[in-house]
Amino acid sequence: MAANKSLLILPGDGIGPEVMTQIRHVIDWMDRRRSVTFAVQEALVGGACYDAHGTAITDQTMAVAETVDAVLLGAVGGPKWDDVPRQHRPEAGLLRLRKDLDLFANLRPAIVFDALVDASTLKPEVIRGLDLLIVRELTSGVYFGEPRGVDTLPDGTERAFDTQLYTKPEIERIARVAFELARKRHNRVASAEKSNVMESGAYWRRVVSHIAATDYPDVEYSNILADNCAMQLLRDPKQFDVIVTDNLFGDLLSDEAAMLTGSLGMLPSASLGAVDPTSGRRHALYEPVHGTAPDIAGQDKANPLATLLSFAMMLRYSFDMAEDADLVEQAVQDVLADGLRTGDIMSPGQTLVSTTQMGAALLAALDRRAA
Ligand code: IPM
Ligand code: MG
Repeated sequence: MAANKSLLILPGDGIGPEVMTQIRHVIDWMDRRRSVTFAVQEALVGGACYDAHGTAITDQTMAVAETVDAVLLGAVGGPKWDDVPRQHRPEAGLLRLRKDLDLFANLRPAIVFDALVDASTLKPEVIRGLDLLIVRELTSGVYFGEPRGVDTLPDGTERAFDTQLYTKPEIERIARVAFELARKRHNRVASAEKSNVMESGAYWRRVVSHIAATDYPDVEYSNILADNCAMQLLRDPKQFDVIVTDNLFGDLLSDEAAMLTGSLGMLPSASLGAVDPTSGRRHALYEPVHGTAPDIAGQDKANPLATLLSFAMMLRYSFDMAEDADLVEQAVQDVLADGLRTGDIMSPGQTLVSTTQMGAALLAALDRRAA
């Protein structure tokens, strides 16, 4: 059968490659067992690419990323590249993918799996059943705003500056993504900004409130100051359904939300572009929320589940394959229910497994589910 979905896999650095190997096995499984085939290309990104080509992503890889249906990324970065100039740092490869593909909508779910309630540092009753979604603006704000730099004032004082900047269309389009997603969930959106201090915060709030009132009156909407949001996430995270916020606050709040679950190794993410009105296609990149974990890289200890759940998000959002996405997510639930744990989510009485063993258990779970 001709491959009907094209995929670019970028394993990246640290634990990225070994985790991605397990995902490749699942992709092969789907090729064999489901009515889908993937044409997979693989390339370097991050420090691995810098070492080979002197840049964190090549133009050639960017050209491939432009044409495929979706990109699956492992993780980038590590202390090895600490002294590399900022424009070539591993993170620059990721930022270029986000910017050049215009992946403005970053979806970061924070879900507490029943089997892992005890992995959180928070009390079980605070987080049991937690399922919230952070929608982070990803291609604008202070991450990309100009001017930025370091200069010297006439009196010789050195200073550094960045620019927080949002246009109305940029705010509107991320807000719409949040409201649309809320309609498919629990119908609540909280928009986080610093409208009490920042011009761009007050503007953000005005624009989102207007969209809420005019186009989404059916969705329960509130504004929240970003610092209060950080506090509320710890106090009572289940009050939230969808949180929409800018690039920088989204970076911070999504790390906090991830840690509420106590298992960074479990959290997937999706970064989506706009839908092309003629082709109906949208660029999309999927990646785990965790980093490269250089301390355990190459030791067969990493948790492959976040990357696998990112692949499931790809099936859901890029390919409309809800049934297959469910299947993959159920396989994850199954291995957890069987007590299998990599070191990051290990607790007393469970079975410690390696990356490879977890991958094998997932294939067995898929076989059982699809039998
Ligand atoms: C993230 C990361 C990135 C960011 C880094 C690696 C550039 O922290 O995806 O949250 O700051 O956006
Ligand atoms: Mg971050």
